[in-house]
Amino acid sequence: MIKIAPSILSADFAKLGAEIQDVEASGADYIHVDAMDGHFVPNLTIGPLIVEAIRPHTTLPLDVHLMLSNPDQYIEAFAKAGADIISVHVEACTHLHRTIQLIKQQGVKAGVVLNPATPVQSVVPILKDVDLVLQMSVNPGFGGQQFIEGVLGNISELAAYSKRDGYSFEIEVDGGVNTQTAKACLDAGATVLVAGSAIFGESDRRKAIQDIRHSQSG
Ligand code: DX5
Ligand code: ZN
Repeated sequence: MIKIAPSILSADFAKLGAEIQDVEASGADYIHVDAMDGHFVPNLTIGPLIVEAIRPHTTLPLDVHLMLSNPDQYIEAFAKAGADIISVHVEACTHLHRTIQLIKQQGVKAGVVLNPATPVQSVVPILKDVDLVLQMSVNPGFGGQQFIEGVLGNISELAAYSKRDGYSFEIEVDGGVNTQTAKACLDAGATVLVAGSAIFGESDRRKAIQDIRHSQSG
């Protein structure tokens, strides 16, 4: 079963609780939360305070994507605030195994993220330790960007490693996912699709989620 993770970056922040409840009622599987530090990416967004504020508004897992230069410094705070999955960029981690262990020690699921130009090879040594691999399909920093088709090969490669070695990590794709681009991601082996503007930009969120989820058969 394909999971859909609406990214709240494209939600109305003045009524974030209601926006999250709306996508939960519309069939979302995760709530995707984008934390940016203005350093690893050229934008500033969400800190642990907002994660703590939204936690009571949903029973869905909070899927927290850290776009921070120094993620180790904030992992405990995001976990305490209520994150269920914490993902860190391989490009930001000098000691990736240590960082992944740090996440797991908090009792939450651990993910590793690759930017579009980062080779899959760079995460192969960590695949056995992670619950999720997040393949970026835009350069992170903003919602509403165009899907980079070149990442489809990375998704297939990740799926092939998973199959070969019997791993059970989820393969999540993030950036420019909509009804046009979702099918290729799913065909390549994605199991979780993040979508911001393609869900929060639509007035009928139920239809938006359904259309993305079922794009496979289309
Ligand atoms: C980009 C973020 C994404 C973003 C996706 O840096 O990581 O999660 O919100 O937005 P869309 O789906 O609009 O590309
Ligand atoms: Zn994201």
